Amino acid sequence: MHQSPARFTLDPAFEIGEVNPRLYGSFVEHLGRCVYDGLYEPGHPQADETGLRKDVLELIRELGVTTVRYPGGNFVSGYRWEDSVGPAEQRPRRMDLAWHSLETNQFGLAEFIDFCRKTDVEPMMAVNLGTRGVEDAVRLLEYANNPGGTELADLRIAHGAKEPYGIRMWCLGNEMDGPWQIGHKKPEEYARLARETASAMKMVDSKLQLVACGSSGFGMPTFGTWEATVLNECYEQVEYVSLHSYYGFEKGDTDLASFMSCGEDVERYIRGVVATCDHIGAKLKSPKKIMLSYDEWNVWHASRSPMAPPEEDGFAYAPRLLENTYSLADAVLTGSLLIGMLRHADRVTSASLAQLVNVIAPIMTEPGGPAWKQTIFYPFAQASTYGRGRVLRVEPDSPRQDTERFGEVDLLHATAVTDDRTGAVTVFAVNRDLERGLPLEVELRGFGDGLRVVEHLVLDGDDPQACNTLDAPDRVTPRTATGAAVSGRVLRAELTPMSWNVIRLTRAES
Ligand code: AHR
Repeated sequence: MHQSPARFTLDPAFEIGEVNPRLYGSFVEHLGRCVYDGLYEPGHPQADETGLRKDVLELIRELGVTTVRYPGGNFVSGYRWEDSVGPAEQRPRRMDLAWHSLETNQFGLAEFIDFCRKTDVEPMMAVNLGTRGVEDAVRLLEYANNPGGTELADLRIAHGAKEPYGIRMWCLGNEMDGPWQIGHKKPEEYARLARETASAMKMVDSKLQLVACGSSGFGMPTFGTWEATVLNECYEQVEYVSLHSYYGFEKGDTDLASFMSCGEDVERYIRGVVATCDHIGAKLKSPKKIMLSYDEWNVWHASRSPMAPPEEDGFAYAPRLLENTYSLADAVLTGSLLIGMLRHADRVTSASLAQLVNVIAPIMTEPGGPAWKQTIFYPFAQASTYGRGRVLRVEPDSPRQDTERFGEVDLLHATAVTDDRTGAVTVFAVNRDLERGLPLEVELRGFGDGLRVVEHLVLDGDDPQACNTLDAPDRVTPRTATGAAVSGRVLRAELTPMSWNVIRLTRAES
């Protein structure tokens, strides 16, 4: 039986907000093979003079990443930044307790900044509020950003970096509400520490943009209370509160329909955090709006990859941890998670796909071997390429389906972005129906005549579990679909079952 169409109206006057380029950020943590034997592998045939793999850098550029959060993650809660600077041969080897791994410190702060410059990404640095505090955060800031004439800025210059690193965005710790975190804190404890750290950092530079830790997940028992307590204390000191979420289809799971609908969770979570921020803002009578930094998000099948090296390996170097091989279904969901964030682009102005290389990542590498794109690479790269400009309001009238986890949900999950400079309009759409195609009808109101379809890119296929691997790196790739067209100011397209779609429109004359 044919599915009835999903419909919505697009009007350039009805805007959600401007897409902040920081929405297309990612995350590099000292974890598993993200850094070591990932983006950094001296001795690899593709390594440059500093040990960075040129083939990996090329893929990162193609992915369209705009910011990179560093150095963790759980790792940052035991991070000693001073171990990671100066002559590499003098840097200490340490136990990383978060991931029970060996940290050689051969890749450190200077190497990270070098990596950012080579990939043209903005660094987003986290300070350690687990085992450390205010003084250490300020010392790191001085080392990184002060031009010179003070002890630590001069130390950076002596280490060969005359120009300050100019890091503007700083995270005040990581997931401090999580009992697994080194230095885990109660909401009141973290709130005070975050406020004191933020105040001191702003005494160094009032223009810094600071991210307070929100909950480490929507499902945390302290969600809501945590955000309210933290913001009550440091509303005027920070610009952002963080959100983290991961979605897995674990061993033994059978409910693919709920998994494919996890974009609902992203939107409910965002709405919950926005409500909490605005509640505190109203209570404090502040004209300021707190923005959301969704600085860890991805598909993560925790049951499908180890979280620590085997005990007999002790503190292992670059162990294979959190290495998920992503499927077509995972990629379609990734697209839907991006749609969920874009639909709230007025408040989600920073986000980080966690992570970038090997560890729950869009890019995989083999030591001494090739690098390749996972399935989730494609929706991210396409969104980063075409999802720039203003997000327009999309209120779909869509057939619905019942899911165990989220109740009734629309089969269509969609957003649209218009670039006023070029007149381009791009519709991003996911069909959540696992079995049936979904006809799409979009009324194009207020654009005048002349919009036409440039291309309709699709990620779909017969096997939801199809993956890209070392042996078959191109099994799942986007294709160009035919049939999408504008006629009489209505865009019509067919969305194949369980698919991610990018429908690009432009003016006929351009
Ligand atoms: O991204 C992997 C881990 O997930 C991060 O280190 C931590 O912040 C989160 O729990």
